[in-house]
This record gives sequence, C-alpha cells and structure tokens, in this order.
Amino acid sequence: MNDGLPAASAAQEHRVTTQPAKIAVEGLDIAFTGLDGSEILVLDRLDLRVEPGEFVAIVGPSGCGKSTLLRVISGLLPPSGGRVLVDGVKVTAPPPGVGFMFQRDTLMPWATVFDNIAVGAELAGRSKADIARRVPDLIGFLRLTGFEKHRPHQLSGGMRQRVALGRLLAYEPDLYLMDEPFGALDSQTKAVMGRELLRVWSTHRRSVVFVTHDIEEAVTLADRVIVLSTRPGRIRLDLPITLPRPREGRALRGDPVFSQLCGAVWDALDLPPIA
Ligand SMILES: Nc1ncnc2c1ncn2[C@@H]1O[C@H](COP(=O)(O)OP(=O)(O)O)[C@@H](O)[C@H]1O
Ligand SMILES: [Mg+2]
Repeated sequence: MNDGLPAASAAQEHRVTTQPAKIAVEGLDIAFTGLDGSEILVLDRLDLRVEPGEFVAIVGPSGCGKSTLLRVISGLLPPSGGRVLVDGVKVTAPPPGVGFMFQRDTLMPWATVFDNIAVGAELAGRSKADIARRVPDLIGFLRLTGFEKHRPHQLSGGMRQRVALGRLLAYEPDLYLMDEPFGALDSQTKAVMGRELLRVWSTHRRSVVFVTHDIEEAVTLADRVIVLSTRPGRIRLDLPITLPRPREGRALRGDPVFSQLCGAVWDALDLPPIA
C-alpha cells in the first residue's frame, strides 16, 4: 500500500491488520454561511472512533452540531475539512448498510403505518413473504396494533416516532444513526423501545450512534457517552459506561455508579445555574 504517505508506524500497521473502525471521524470541520454572510463554525477538528458493535451515545447542548455530525456520517452533508470513514471507506455518499432515524420523522404522508414500516424491509431487499411476516411483528411490539391502516397525520408525535423506529428496525442496517429517536415518547414507552433496540443491537452486534438530550437514557443504553461542548462542538467528555448489562429498572436507578456516571455527564454539559 503506497499512497504517497510516509511509511506506516507499527501502531498503524497493527490497525491495518485488525478490523477498521466502524466510523472514523478525523479532524472534521463543519462551517455554514450565516444569513449575514459570516461563517459559522459548527464542528471544529472533531475526532471520533466508533468500533464495530459499539453503542455510542452523544449528548450536548442544543445547536452544538449533533444532527450535523450524523448528517456528515450518513453522507448527506460533505465536510468543510477533515474526513469521515465508514468501514474504512471515505464517505462521499450514503454508505451501504447505514440506517438513519431523523430528529423530525420523515414518514411518507400518503402511506399507511404498515407501508411506512414495510418500506424499510423492501429497501433491505426482503421477500414479500418475509415482509408479510415481519411487519406485523414489529407493529405488535411497537404497540401500533389497530393502527396499521392509519396515515401519519392521524397519529400522535410519539406514534409517528414509533413508526419511524419500525422502519429502521425493518431495514436492519449494520450501523444505526439515531437522532433523538425517543424524544417524543413517554418514559415508559421510551424504556420499552430502548430495551428492544438493545435486544436487536446485542443479538446482531450492530453499531449504534444515538443522539439524545436525556442523560439517564444515554447512560442506560450506551457503551460510551460522548459529551459535546457548545458550538463549535468539541468533545468535552468521552465516558466509558462500565455498568453490567442488562441495565434495567429501579435497581439501575438506585446504583451509585449509575448516579456518578450521570453526574459526570451533567458536569461536562456545564449547564448554567438556574436563576
Ligand atoms: N444547513 C444549515 N445552514 C446553516 N446553518 C446550519 C445548517 N444546519 C445547521 N446549522 C446550524 O448549525 C448549528 C448546529 O445545528 P445542529 O447540528 O442541528 O445542532 P444540534 O442537533 O446539536 O441541536 C446550529 O447553530 C444550526 O443553526
Ligand atoms: Mg439536533
């Protein structure tokens, strides 16, 4: 391999022989032009690695660039500087096997709940028989039974979010990019959906990048929690979550390690004091 770069160090050579990172974000800059023509730096030389099978949560103040970061990883937005690799390949278009759940749902307004979920399985190339079996299963667990023929405008925000989750789960990507996917759900439904996501993740060892503003949710779900600073977004904390799995219920909430980890994330967010 000679691409004009100096000879690889021993460490780099070691990395070449092992699996590439699922995601490698290297010196990523993102700048937008504001309405007055001035440049707004949203992400500043960001470095981030996500290993295959890892579940990473990203937390940060509103406007710090979380959604922007996911859009770059998914190939929807080109970097202003630096680069992003998925499976060792530089991202210039949506990479294969990447599923995205947007912050605002992007359901097909004319299509039924069933069809909005089925499209995920169709995109994944599943057979008609497989779709006919799998979609009702998903509808059941998503608590959407009885709403199969409804259209998105006839649903609550939380129900639409569950349909979007169903579409993602039906697609079964290798890499899940999820932008505040449970933001519109009540806490009990959130817990049920989180458990299902973890079941899929742990069964198939997918990789997940999960943006949330819910600190407890991040610590409950993830292997690592990344805290971004206010704009321009930089990594303030990269916190491994060592709590054993499964992590559930009141026992978890009462675990002092859980509270310490949540406290560390809270501190890194550096929220201004009330009043
Ligand atoms: N297409 C765009 N043009 C100009 N500014 C943008 C664009 N997209 C995002 N921004 C700005 O980039 C910043 C980060 O946005 P975003 O990634 O949505 O933040 P977050 O998801 O962390 O709340 C915000 O200040 C937003 O206004
Ligand atoms: Mg966002």
